[in-house]
Formats: sequence, C-alpha cells, structure tokens
Amino acid sequence: TVEDAGGAPPTQRSVRVPPGVTVFDSASWNGIAIDSTCGGHGTCHKCKVRVDTATPISRHDVRTFSRDQLDAGWRLACLVQATRDLKVEVPPLTTRPKAATVGVGRQVILRPAVQKRYVELAEPDLSDQRTDIDRLLAAIDDLAPQPDLHALRRLPQVLRAADWKVTAVVVDEVLVDVEPGDTTAQRYAIAFDLGTTTVVATLLDVALGTPVGVASMLNRQQPYGGDVITRISATMLDPEALPRLQQAAAATLAELAAQVCREGGVDPQHVYEVAIAGNATMTALVLGIDPEPLGVAPFVMSTAQPPTMLASDVGLELHPRARAVFFPALGAYVGGDIVAGMLATGMDRDKRTRLFIDVGTNCELVVSDGDRILSTAAPAGPAFEGGAIRCGMRAADGAIEVIKLGSTPEDAVQLGVIGDVEPKGLCGSGLVDAVAELVRVGLLDASGRFVPDEQAPEVAPALADRLTRIGEERVFVLHRPHAGAMPEECVVLSQRDVRELQFAKAAISTGWTLLLEELGLEHRDVQQVLMAGSFGSYISPASAVRIGLVPKLPVLRIVSAGNVAGEGAKMALLSVRERAGAAALLQEVTYVELSDRPDFNDRFVDQLAF
Ligand code: FES
Repeated sequence: TVEDAGGAPPTQRSVRVPPGVTVFDSASWNGIAIDSTCGGHGTCHKCKVRVDTATPISRHDVRTFSRDQLDAGWRLACLVQATRDLKVEVPPLTTRPKAATVGVGRQVILRPAVQKRYVELAEPDLSDQRTDIDRLLAAIDDLAPQPDLHALRRLPQVLRAADWKVTAVVVDEVLVDVEPGDTTAQRYAIAFDLGTTTVVATLLDVALGTPVGVASMLNRQQPYGGDVITRISATMLDPEALPRLQQAAAATLAELAAQVCREGGVDPQHVYEVAIAGNATMTALVLGIDPEPLGVAPFVMSTAQPPTMLASDVGLELHPRARAVFFPALGAYVGGDIVAGMLATGMDRDKRTRLFIDVGTNCELVVSDGDRILSTAAPAGPAFEGGAIRCGMRAADGAIEVIKLGSTPEDAVQLGVIGDVEPKGLCGSGLVDAVAELVRVGLLDASGRFVPDEQAPEVAPALADRLTRIGEERVFVLHRPHAGAMPEECVVLSQRDVRELQFAKAAISTGWTLLLEELGLEHRDVQQVLMAGSFGSYISPASAVRIGLVPKLPVLRIVSAGNVAGEGAKMALLSVRERAGAAALLQEVTYVELSDRPDFNDRFVDQLAF
C-alpha cells in the first residue's frame, strides 16, 4: 500500500522480487519511492515502512522507533529482507528529494537535462523594443539555451496570449518550447529498458527524482524469434522484416509510454525526454539500422553511440521536441543495456573487486578490480530462457522457479511456482535450482550424469522413485500432475537438460575465469558478484555457487542486482553528470574478445564439471 503526500487515496501494488532483497530495493526496482537520504545504507533512518509479518528488529530499528511502533510492525525498509510474502505500507514522502536513490544503492544528485523556468516578462514598449527571444533569454540567462525553431514559432503568440507569464522549457541546453503560465511542476521523462524479451518503462518526475508510473510488456518483436540471432536472421531472410521489426519495437515503446502516462496522470506533452537502454541488436532494430553485421564475424556495430534524436523518430508521441537518448555500446554483444547496468551498479566507482553477470542467451560479463574494467560476452544459449529444455518455459505463471529437495517422503520435492498455480514447466532459475539440488543430494555426479538406477535408492532414498526414463532418456520427475501419471505427462528434468545447462554455465564461467586471469586475479579475490537481468536476478545465489555459474564464494557476496539497465536509464535522465559518466565508460572499459583465444575450447571443457 503506497500512501500519497497530496492526500489522494493510497494505491495498492503487488510486486515480485527475488528472495532476500530488501524492501527498500524491492520498492525502488518497482518504481515506488521510499524516503531516504542515505540510499539504503541504514544510516539516515528515514525509510520507515510498516510490515504485516513479524520480521527481525535491528539495532537501527530500536533507535528509530518506540516499542509500540515496533510492535505495530514499523521497520526501516533498507534493513528488512523479503524472504516470503510481505504486505508493506509505504507512508507518503516527507521530503522532496534533491537526490534520488537509483540503481544498486546509488545516490543521484538531481541535475536533469530537462529544465523549466517560470518567468514574468516586462511587456515591450517603444523604449524597449528587444526581440521576444532576447527578452526571454535575458530572464533565463543562467540556463543560456539555444532556441530551436519550434520554440521560436510558438513564442510571439504564447507570450502575448499568456500576458507575458510563461514557462521556458529547456532540454539539454536547447530552448524547445514556451508554455503559457507556470508549468514548472510538470517535468517528466521516460526511462526504457528495451529488452529482447521484455520492455520496461518508468515515467519519472525529474523535478523530484521520483517515479510516477511503471509498466512492462513483452517486446512485440517476439513473433520474429526469441533471441537476437533469430531476429537478425529474420532480417537477412526477408527484406520486409527490418521495417516490420522497427515498427514492432516502436509500437512497444509507444504502448508503454501511453500506459505510464495514464498511470501517472501525466499529459504526454509534458514528457520532454526519454532514455533507452538496449542491447546492440535491439538498438539497431528500433532505429531501422540493418543488424546483419552484428550477427556475422567480425561482429561490427554501425555506431557505438547513436546520435541524440527526437523521440518521434522512434515512434513516440510525446512533446513534439522530446529527445531520445540512447546508451552507448561497448561492442556488438556488450550493448547499451550493459553500459546502463554498469552505471547503475557503479562498476567504475567502486574500489572493490566485483564481477557483474547479466545472465541470458547472450551473457555479458564485467570484472573490475577497482582500477581496470574488462568486459566480454559469453554465448550461453537459450537454456536460461527455457529454450532447448524439455519442460522449459518463460518465467510466467505456472513456471517452477524454486526447487528444494529433502530427505523424507513428505519434503522430498518442494516447489516454488510463479503465480502459485499448478506447475506447467521450468524457468531458468528453476533449472539452475533443479540441477544444483540434484548435485547436492548426489543424484547427479560431478560430470553431470544421473547416477545409475541401482545406486539411486542408496544415495537419496526419498527421491529414487522419481528417477525414471522417457524412451531411452533418463529424467527426474519434479512434478506429477496426478498419482500414476506417466513420465511424459510430468514436469521433468532430463539428462539432455542437464547437458544444456552445463554448456551454458561453462560458457559463462570460462568467460569470467579468463577475465579474472587477465587482471591477475583468482576467484577468491572477488568481493562481490552482481547477478543482473531478468534471469540473473532470480537465480538463487546458493545454487549459482553450487553449479559453478559464479565463483565459489560465500553466498553473502552474491547479490541480486535487479533490472539494472532500467535503473541506469533513470540515472541518465535524472543527471547529466551520470549521463556523461556512461559515455566515459566507453573509454574506461576494455572489451576482451574470447572467441579467438586458442585456449578457449580447453578452458571451456575444464569448466563443464559441477
Ligand atoms: Fe537510509 Fe534506510 S534508507 S536508513
């Protein structure tokens, strides 16, 4: 329940986050603002919320709340972890933040490119015949903008009709409009995370630094293929595909923009800027640029940094002069989404040795030792998205996302299913859990093979009857729809599924092993692993460690980072400094090409074992 400072009725939102994430981060990832000046570090004692379930009381809570308040469930949001379903009451914001908390605990001082000034100008007369524009520019000389033609066209009429009381709209040092009266409170921008699968839009009040609407939907390019390679192939096979893909991306952005404006009660004419973070292929497609060179060696982009353009160029109907800003890309397979993620996680500003992993069909990896930053891409294949997996599916209702194996018949297989409905299949995090748990109980050996039938009752008596066959292939039954169901009717993990995951994890771990070696580091030197992206954030850290997807480290060092691309896009809209920081990353990060390394195959084979 989110209360409103203006006295509007509270709104109810239901959000899903990876287990263990703090309430503060959960809220921030989902566009819900909670008071804070410390950015979620437990020092400002402002992030007060009320939770319905008994949760541990920290010493900071004791200092902040009375006994009665603690009993009533008041806690500091950045210290409460969401380990099961929670109902949280978020009080209205008490302060108008000059800074906003975005990304992974990043504090961003507000310096948006979109500026507004309300001015009351002296009317001209025969002793003061300055031009209209000089009159206006003199009143906003601190912004020193260049006027554009649209603003000049509107200027004479708006100034006179509004009795010389107008608001100047400046975007990135260009005067783009004059609006009658005082519209300074209406200053909005939209951050887009343009994913291959899902696109997320966040409408931001850039004056306050707060989100006022969030929406997501499947990318309308889906019918052309689930991943970037199939979409690139589509354009190579059919000359009509590129304009259609461009149109589909534009339609996705437009639909989301309309949705967030409706949700936030914002006139789209008051949205003056959008930031778009997408991988190199998504960026090329939405711009109508032929993506073919991205799909074939030597994998070359048409540009690392698309020019700033009008939002209408990508099909958005917002303010007619609204700008669209794209994130720069490091390479064909480390795109603007990853640069945005690096910005959101402060990869270039942290002195610790950190590993950033965005898990997907193409897995992007970044390692920083506090001094140098290296990045690469590892082709993990479709396993994490449920592709090539016998019962694989997207993370939607009915997908098994959490699996725990026990030792008694009662707790033999415990499943966490999205939507709490009958299990229909297995999504990426469920696949990782299934394999990690089977390795833990000993039904899968280190080489990834199911143990022989006769050994199973000895190794895991409560689970042995679930190890069976479909045709020749060995499978482990995760869910039986009814007693006596044939294995074909069940949700199973097959021997081939295990192999698919092995290949995916070996590609990824070979990637980070080689990056660490380049920096002269060992696995244990890594102080933090950030699991990002819509798959990475949901993978259990313990399971990721067990199968070797991430270095063997204490699980506390492994952090779910959430939708970091979207967070980076928000940062770029809230601060021109942060935007410049993203551009600077192109110089700071070295892209390492792994595919031409002579030792790659040997290293890959070494990494296959669990
Ligand atoms: Fe500052 Fe929680 S955000 S104490």
